[in-house]
Amino acid sequence: MALYGILADIHGNREALAAALAALDERGAQRIACLGDVVGYNADPDECVQLVRRRCASVIAGNHDLIGVGRLDFGRCSNNAEYSLRRTRRALSRESRAWLASLPSSATLEDGVVLVHGGVRDVQQSMTTPADIRENVAYLRADFPGARMCFFGHSHEQRIYRLNADSIEELPIHGQILLRQEDTYFINPGAIDASRKRSRKLAECALFDSRAGTLEFLRVPYDGAATEAKAAVFGYRLTPFTDRLYSLKRRLAARP
Ligand SMILES: [Fe+2]
Ligand SMILES: [Fe+2]
Repeated sequence: MALYGILADIHGNREALAAALAALDERGAQRIACLGDVVGYNADPDECVQLVRRRCASVIAGNHDLIGVGRLDFGRCSNNAEYSLRRTRRALSRESRAWLASLPSSATLEDGVVLVHGGVRDVQQSMTTPADIRENVAYLRADFPGARMCFFGHSHEQRIYRLNADSIEELPIHGQILLRQEDTYFINPGAIDASRKRSRKLAECALFDSRAGTLEFLRVPYDGAATEAKAAVFGYRLTPFTDRLYSLKRRLAARP
């Protein structure tokens, strides 16, 4: 049992990752877990891989990590995800690629606490509704008997769902949340990378105290302008013209 920092969806954003790690250190996090998508979208994939390797005790693969090393194709990507991942593939060092390719698809943080990236059985599933959670509760029970908590990422929004008997309830994310022993929880710590969000740039993560049975969501300011400038300079941002080309290519590929 420990005070865990939980983070996900870093997407090559070194500034946001450094800010979140500093905040977790300040709060006394003893172990840090990463729910995948270390790379993609932004210009520092190798630097983020190195920082995650150094700081995170548990790491699983996200879909962007798998696409970045060629283990998944671009079929379910948006245009800008595909474009930045093609750039990421060219940028990643051999060592980073080998490490990303070695990541497991799920992990157990401690007894009964499971880590996945998207859905329990589908790394590219966005769990955003109670119906998604209900479907995945069944998978969790079948694949991880006895699990009472599932941390997930991929949908880039801080969320906590509580399952009691057969009812699923989404809880408010503010303040310290007391986790009841008898309930099952699905928790998304949010995304470290906020580059695609319109609001103020905040790196999101969570603190999970398994001894006290509490959870707290954090939002940490970072230098979003620096991230954006690097992404533009190093070719991670899609131009409107290339966006149209990608859409045309997809339409042609979908033709019978
Ligand atoms: Fe992601
Ligand atoms: Fe993802």
